[in-house]
Amino acid sequence: MQILQQKILKLATVPKEGVLKVDNFLNHIIDPKLMINIGKELAERYKGTKIDKILTLEASGIAPALGTALALEVPLLFAKKSIPSTMSDGYYTTIHSFTKKKDYDIFISKEYISKGENILIVDDFLAMGNSVLGMTELIQMGGANCVGVGIVIEKSFQQGRQILSKKSIRVESLVRLKYIAPPHIIEFF
Ligand code: G4P
Repeated sequence: MQILQQKILKLATVPKEGVLKVDNFLNHIIDPKLMINIGKELAERYKGTKIDKILTLEASGIAPALGTALALEVPLLFAKKSIPSTMSDGYYTTIHSFTKKKDYDIFISKEYISKGENILIVDDFLAMGNSVLGMTELIQMGGANCVGVGIVIEKSFQQGRQILSKKSIRVESLVRLKYIAPPHIIEFF
């Protein structure tokens, strides 16, 4: 996706080996037009696949997931990272963040996932694939199907794609990073 690559080259930084900082259009400030274009592109990639719902993880997945839900005209469900006092009955799992070096629990309310529905997972980054795997577990608990994954930025020098492919999970990434190094060396596939 050309506009996204250009945006990364112009605005992203690499604060340390293997980490891309995109706070100025995706992770802190959000570029709304870009989110709409991301959504259209992901919808196009999954053309012909029946999709009933989008699932993402708060917080940074929500913006690109909303663009995709808008393009597909389906609802967006986001998994939460802390149990709301109003949540009566939920599906839970624990994921390990390689980047943040910590474990955290994610939740969705049982009432928002239905048996047999087709769900597309959308997230901002794919690194080791743990967030995506956690979301696929929630989908399975609800008896729904994961039809694939849409990623904005894939760090292809990490194992996420291989791990998901081994589990026969389709991955569509809008940009794939081959190599990044401080302060601003960014190579794409
Ligand atoms: P994984 O899910 O693919 O295994 O990745 P990992 O655990 O390593 O990363 C988890 C979190 O770190 C995710 O955010 C992900 O978006 C973010 N992340 C991973 N690599 C990068 C990177 O190079 N740059 C940036 N900016 N973020 C990265 P999260 O925990 O869901 O937090 P949030 O930001 O959505 O609140």
